[in-house]
Amino acid sequence: MASIKRIGVITSGGDCGGLNAVIKGIAREAYALGVESVVIPNGYAGLYNLVDLPEVVLLNADRVSRIEASLAGSEAGHSRVKISKIADPRKYERIKEGLKKFGIDALIISGGDDTGSVVVDLSGRGIPCVHVPKTMDLDLQPYSVGGDSAINRIAVFARDLKTTGLSHNRILVIEVFGRYVGHTAFRGGVGAEVDCILIPEIPVDFDYVYKHMKTTYFARIERSDVRAGTYIIVVAEGIQNANGEMLIDESAGVDAFGHKKLAGAGRYVRQQLERRLKKDPAVLKFMKRVGMYAPGVYLVPEVREVTPGHLVRSGHSSAFDVIFGHRAGAVAVFLLLEGKTGYTVVNVIGDKIYYMPTSEAIKRMEVDLNEVALFESLGTCFGRPPRKYDYELIETAEPKRRHV
Ligand code: F6P
Repeated sequence: MASIKRIGVITSGGDCGGLNAVIKGIAREAYALGVESVVIPNGYAGLYNLVDLPEVVLLNADRVSRIEASLAGSEAGHSRVKISKIADPRKYERIKEGLKKFGIDALIISGGDDTGSVVVDLSGRGIPCVHVPKTMDLDLQPYSVGGDSAINRIAVFARDLKTTGLSHNRILVIEVFGRYVGHTAFRGGVGAEVDCILIPEIPVDFDYVYKHMKTTYFARIERSDVRAGTYIIVVAEGIQNANGEMLIDESAGVDAFGHKKLAGAGRYVRQQLERRLKKDPAVLKFMKRVGMYAPGVYLVPEVREVTPGHLVRSGHSSAFDVIFGHRAGAVAVFLLLEGKTGYTVVNVIGDKIYYMPTSEAIKRMEVDLNEVALFESLGTCFGRPPRKYDYELIETAEPKRRHV
């Protein structure tokens, strides 16, 4: 076993659910094994500035008991700083000086793909690091803490929107985080039984979305004894058109990792639907037929967009993320003490701890379009004419467990 007496804990990238459980898992396992753990605050910005800090917070039993694992966000704080981008030629020496100052022998770092690339970088420079996968986007190869919490929150928001949608007979578009993949939009949308889910993996055919919306929405109101109906769309912030262009507001700028800030997909979808509703002569006839029409005032159904933004990763963590976080944090300590560096925790099943090189773990995982086809066969619109669900039957004695 490598001689590790003190571990530094870092959380980095966007915050989300389950991170406090990761911190507690690390601290409690380390304590049980006679190793100290300390917080390096505010992600990689804190690591860079560690040498100037007067002290670090020791995660002893008392301090850890004051961290609430079920609260989302991170007690250790976050920043979107990538070490390689810091304009200081001495940055790596400075980091090593900081680690030396506080007697920190190794790091456990929880974050997504950008964070993981820094784990690879630091590990290659002789700083022992283990990575705990974290991102609400779920775009890593293994499950990442925060994904389940975000899915549950998206499902609750989308489900709750139905009450106002039904009261006003509105078509509602809810834009959710997820960066360049649609995992959380897909699963949150299915969880809320919404009508349409638009994800970056499927270029949006707005004529098809309009057709699906019109058929579903018209029928709903016409069949209702009180003439009530709504149509709910969950749209992932990173949707694209058939040319691979993102349907976003280009003026939003970039973040500290250098990524475009994604915003505007919900508005884009709303505008596309409004344009078609206004041009379609069948809409006015429908409005008259169901008694919604008011001359000069109410000629077409309203479309509104809602953007919960950071709310999808705030508040409380799901029980699954609390469990996963505790477990992943704890076994990250085992990996470090076994001399592993540059690796990502994948899962724990019974007495088996699965891990993989961080360089592999951070390769982007997209939504499986076969799975989408299954939900298309159940009637959900994914912004294209439904594809056939092709399947294969496999009998197995050892089910492969991977959450969401
Ligand atoms: O990567 C996680 C994430 O929540 C993305 O889904 C989203 O695009 C981004 O972070 C928002 O980042 P920030 O909090 O820096 O605005």
